[in-house]
Amino acid sequence: MSVQTSSGTGAFRTAVVPAAGLGTRFLPTTKAVPKELLPVVDTPGIELVAAEAAEAGAQRLLIVTSPGKDSVAAYFRTDDELVKTLESRGKGELADKVRRAPGLLEVDSVYQYEPKGLGHAVAQAGPALADDEQAVAVLLPDDLVLPTGVLARMAQVREEHGGSVLCAFDVPREQISAYGVFEVSDTGDDDVKQVHGMVEKPAPDEAPSTFAAAGRYLLDRAIFDALDRITPGAGGELQLTDAVALLISEGHPVHVVVHRGGRHDLGNPAGYARAYVDFMLQHPEYGEDLRTWLNERLKD
Ligand code: UTP
Repeated sequence: MSVQTSSGTGAFRTAVVPAAGLGTRFLPTTKAVPKELLPVVDTPGIELVAAEAAEAGAQRLLIVTSPGKDSVAAYFRTDDELVKTLESRGKGELADKVRRAPGLLEVDSVYQYEPKGLGHAVAQAGPALADDEQAVAVLLPDDLVLPTGVLARMAQVREEHGGSVLCAFDVPREQISAYGVFEVSDTGDDDVKQVHGMVEKPAPDEAPSTFAAAGRYLLDRAIFDALDRITPGAGGELQLTDAVALLISEGHPVHVVVHRGGRHDLGNPAGYARAYVDFMLQHPEYGEDLRTWLNERLKD
């Protein structure tokens, strides 16, 4: 489903993908390879997220990267030589795969020179927006939200309620302390809640709800002004959630769409392994073999 682009509605043109972090949980690999380029089967996580943004109607991907991670934006450039070589060798299917990422949407990048947190990374995108862009989507490239489609739903909710819209998962209470948790009240729609606050990693009996934050945001342009006004929070970093909390305290409407689906966290080896196996098992070429091998392996 595609979202109409016009200011003052739920629409957005630009999808910001913060990819300037250090990726410490994937060291030593991330010394040389950005974690956003690690493959899920054969495709980097950031391409899966770019495809999701394009499907939701985004026209431009704005990658926030760092000088040491230029390969992330480079991945989206066309490579005519490689395509020609593959085609001349009769490998048309591979040529199609190579063409896929550059063909998804227009791609630009901005630098975050120091990894001062997610809020700071998103702030770098502000000056790169056109004057008439009233909202911007933010997608964390290490968070796969499945099936895709939640951004389009979030755009509808912004159209209805205004303000900013985030994405939540309903998590079993005993697991809630791993997440940022929303304090919410009901709306007429079971899958849409109004947000009154957020608590980071609460104990299960202190969690204000079981709705945990996921890496999809549809933010009103007011977020950039709020990002300018917050001070470093947890870990000495500028936190995006602190800027959202500031907006809430000033009466800015914030809602969440509760996504009833799956999720993979590609940002750490354990979550990445699950995502890789999950995608492999569904793969028409590799799935069957892997399933047979895994069944044998698990008998040991
Ligand atoms: P993460 O916290 O998952 O990424 O941030 P990280 O900091 O790179 O990973 P670890 O914790 O050291 O292993 C979520 C997303 O936000 C980006 C990251 O690149 C990642 O895609 N990010 C984070 C930035 O762009 N800048 C930052 O300062 C922090």
